[in-house]
Amino acid sequence: MPLLEAAGIVKVFGKLTALDGAALTVGENEFHGLIGPNGSGKSTLMKCIAGAEMPTQGKVSFINSDITMLSPHVRARAGMSLKFQITSVLPTLTLYDNVLLALQARASLFDLVFSRTRGALHEQVITMLRQFRLADCAHDAAATLSHGQQQWLEIAMALAGKPRLLLLDEPTGGMSIEERRVTGELLRPVKRHCSLVIVEHDLDFIRDICDRLTVLDQGRVLASGTVPEIQASKSVQEIYLRRA
Ligand SMILES: Nc1ncnc2c1ncn2[C@@H]1O[C@H](COP(=O)(O)OP(=O)(O)OP(=O)(O)O)[C@@H](O)[C@H]1O
Ligand SMILES: [Mg+2]
Repeated sequence: MPLLEAAGIVKVFGKLTALDGAALTVGENEFHGLIGPNGSGKSTLMKCIAGAEMPTQGKVSFINSDITMLSPHVRARAGMSLKFQITSVLPTLTLYDNVLLALQARASLFDLVFSRTRGALHEQVITMLRQFRLADCAHDAAATLSHGQQQWLEIAMALAGKPRLLLLDEPTGGMSIEERRVTGELLRPVKRHCSLVIVEHDLDFIRDICDRLTVLDQGRVLASGTVPEIQASKSVQEIYLRRA
């Protein structure tokens, strides 16, 4: 069984059909890129998977359970974590406190009250900050970070609590070429314990880090397969040429 399976997803907003039978299947430890032209429904599909939007029709399964109608909160507890285009960093808090809050939000009340949490939480915060090359500025306010560092902090926060699936919607938007390269480096080790669905417009970036790709066009899947399969697809080449 795949880790995540979204099938027949329809999402209607008033008169507009944003998703028209879209599907996405992601395996364990798989990095999956979701690409397609502006307005093709990528963010809406991510939201239907995360529970931020309810699909009009269709089914989302995660770790062998039907989660289609579950709240984002319950999905998060089941091991799904997301970072959307809008920031969730609290700028006046330190990096340390931002990650600590993210961790605490995912720990159960039992853990917080009874376990040897303080030391354990401290270790986890520092580990996450080190992993994302932010440990040197752990006690600076998040507002002092560069745009790229702020995105890395958000990814670190989304990974706090060890999710099985991370959803990232355009994490490299507004980054420099060097920041994009570093983002790829920082994400690669995540594959050991977590799958990823990533929406990106930068095709070089997505080719570098993803195992499989799904291409959306007007709310439907145009193609889904390994990176070489998608690169060889005539219909995919056409939509990207049409855009150029
Ligand atoms: N909450 C909403 N209400 C009404 N229409 C919406 C809503 N969210 C998205 N849409 C519409 O649904 C379609 C798909 O939007 P979506 O944001 O999913 O596309 P996208 O592929 O993520 O685009 P982009 O590459 O620009 O981020 C668009 O026509 C958009 O205007
Ligand atoms: Mg989008």
